[in-house]
Amino acid sequence: MSSIAREAGSLLLTYFHKGIKIEYKGDADLVTAADRAAEALIRDRVSQQFPAHDILGEEQGLNDRGSEYRWYVDPLDGTTNFAHGYPVFGVSMALERRLPGELPRRIAGVVYDPTRDELFAAELGKGAHLNGSPIHVSKAAQLKECLVATGFPSHKRHKNPNIHFYHQITLRTHGVRRAGSAALDLCNVACGRFDGFWEFNLNPWDTAAGVLIVEEAGGRVSRFDGSPFRIDSSETLASNGLVHDALLREFQEILAGRGLDPLPDPRVYER
Ligand code: IPD
Ligand code: CA
Ligand code: CA
Repeated sequence: MSSIAREAGSLLLTYFHKGIKIEYKGDADLVTAADRAAEALIRDRVSQQFPAHDILGEEQGLNDRGSEYRWYVDPLDGTTNFAHGYPVFGVSMALERRLPGELPRRIAGVVYDPTRDELFAAELGKGAHLNGSPIHVSKAAQLKECLVATGFPSHKRHKNPNIHFYHQITLRTHGVRRAGSAALDLCNVACGRFDGFWEFNLNPWDTAAGVLIVEEAGGRVSRFDGSPFRIDSSETLASNGLVHDALLREFQEILAGRGLDPLPDPRVYER
C-alpha cells in the first residue's frame, strides 16, 4: 500500500510542477487531471495485486466485486490547494475488512504527502508510523494550550454551521488552522503537531486512513456527541484523547446556541 501511495504522490508532483488546469464538479468543488490520473494509477496497482477486492475511490466511485475487503481511495486530498499551487495535499488509501455480523474495520491505512516526502501509515493493533518511525499524539491536556484544525467542505457551503465552531474554538485555543487537507489534518493530530481536528460532512475516502492513523497513534475519534466514529459519520472529531471531552463540551454548548451574539462593531475593535 505504501509503495502505491508513493507512486501516486510522485505522479501528483509531476502534474503540480507542470501547471494545473481546473475543472468544476460543483460551484466550488474542483477536480483536475491529476485527481483522475492518480486514481487510475491506484486502481490499476490495487487490482493487479488484489483482483477480487472492492475499491471505493472519490473520482470513479465504487467497484463492487462482492469482496469482504474494500479499499478507500482519495487520490488527491487537498485539490483546491493543489489547483492554486499551495503545497498542502496528499494521497489517502485505506483497507477495510467487512465480516458478516461485525462492524467493518479498517485494518491498514496510509497518507502520503509528496511535497514533504512524509508517509504516515498504520496497521490495526500495530501502531502508527511516519516514514517508518513510531508516532504518538500530543500530551496537551487543556484546550488553552492546544493548536487545532478544521475544514470546510466545498458543497452546501451556505448551510455549514462550522464558521461558528471556528470562531468559538479559536477563542479557546492557541488557534484553529484550516490547511485544506482533512487526511493530512488527521495525520498531524496523530504525530502531535495538532492536538485536535474536526469537520462536518467528510467522505469515507477523506477519513478512512487518517482516523486509523490517529487511533493507532493513541488518539480518540468520535462524533460530536461522543459516540463512536463510523466510516459514514457526518461528524468527525479527532484529538489526542486528553482534550476530547473538553472539545465535546464546547461543541454541545455551541450547538445549543452559544456564540450567536451580534457581530462586534469593528469601530470598537482598537489596538
Ligand atoms: C477536501 C479536503 C478539505 C476538506 C474538504 C474535503 P478534496 O477533500 O480534505 O480539507 O475541508 O471537506 O472535501 O476535495 O480536496 O479531496
Ligand atoms: Ca478529500
Ligand atoms: Ca480528492
